[in-house]
Amino acid sequence: MTGFRVGIVGATGAVGREMLRVLAERAFPASELRLIASPRSAGMRLDGREIMPVSPAVFDGLDVAIFDTPDEVAEQWVPVAAARGVVVVDNSAAFRMAPDVPLVIPEVNAEALRSAPRGIIANPNCTTATIAVPLAPLHRSAGLRRVIACSYQSVSGAGQRGVAQLWSELDTAVASRRPPDAPGGDAFAHPIAFNILPAVGSVRGSHTSEETKVAAELRKMLDAPRLPIGVTCVRVPTLTAHGVAVHAEFVRPLDAASAKALLESAPGVVVVDALAEGAYPTAHQAMGKDACYVGRIRQDEAGLLAFFATADNLRKGAALNAVQILETMVRMGLLQPKVSA
Ligand SMILES: NC(=O)c1ccc[n+]([C@@H]2O[C@H](COP(=O)([O-])OP(=O)(O)OC[C@H]3O[C@@H](n4cnc5c(N)ncnc54)[C@H](OP(=O)(O)O)[C@@H]3O)[C@@H](O)[C@H]2O)c1
Repeated sequence: MTGFRVGIVGATGAVGREMLRVLAERAFPASELRLIASPRSAGMRLDGREIMPVSPAVFDGLDVAIFDTPDEVAEQWVPVAAARGVVVVDNSAAFRMAPDVPLVIPEVNAEALRSAPRGIIANPNCTTATIAVPLAPLHRSAGLRRVIACSYQSVSGAGQRGVAQLWSELDTAVASRRPPDAPGGDAFAHPIAFNILPAVGSVRGSHTSEETKVAAELRKMLDAPRLPIGVTCVRVPTLTAHGVAVHAEFVRPLDAASAKALLESAPGVVVVDALAEGAYPTAHQAMGKDACYVGRIRQDEAGLLAFFATADNLRKGAALNAVQILETMVRMGLLQPKVSA
């Protein structure tokens, strides 16, 4: 059977482990799967396979490498893989804003895949994805004038360390029946259990790196380089799935009923919008699922179109989108296996 020889770099991480599940669920035609991580994990077994330490030779013979590593690791190793003729889909932020690297959500801008001169395709930030999937069809219909978005981001967005810190603090809190007074890990500067932290990522002047990424990535994917976007990113003590409250102003008229109709037929979107019956998107609803759930669609009192969206940060925000990128490239004739297995 002809298949792709696939490497997952960062296979031991939160996104890497989800990647393994998504590849299997979607029966991606992989004739070989190499699980790659840091030398710390070398020799460990995951899913019945031995973890290989990253090295130049580990990329030899691969068709595709999916990177699920910190930015600095991707910066070092993505060019090494690409130089060996391996097509790279990178989940880190290292190459997202490079002009010669397409930043793609297939439902939003699949055509951008046609121009990947370095053989590198970037996957957007998980909060960006939760906003872009529903916002793109509205933008295509009515033209965005400005966007305001506030996120509610789960701890798995900070990787395995984020999940570990929340569980550790919850254990302490349950034993003492008090909120923790010190962080129970090194993922967040303050306790996250029973808390909300309005700072995600590193400091960038008066913004955070997460906020600047979301704005810049939305502008790139929506092909709207001057779109004014105001973002506040907030970490909340949920395990998986991010929520985002979005308020948007459009150039052409777009009322809530028309927006709802557009969203109901938008790929990747499930509308859950009946406030009076208690139906609206929740993190639990999105956890482990593929869709971006959208509800609370309304005209706000400032005259903007508002909605709330949730999506699984490890799936549509990372692993699922990466696999959908590969599937789309295959469908568009942009990716073939180098050899038959
Ligand atoms: N979590 C999310 O929701 C999400 C969503 C979208 C994008 N992303 C991005 O995806 C990437 C991975 O995130 P994550 O949440 O999965 O992080 P994570 O749980 O901390 O996992 C990091 C992975 O990178 C590997 N790694 C670290 N240093 C390495 C090195 N020097 N050489 C090779 N491998 C190394 C780790 O391997 P060891 O186990 O051997 O240390 C681990 O497999 C990040 O760039 C993140 O920003 C994350």
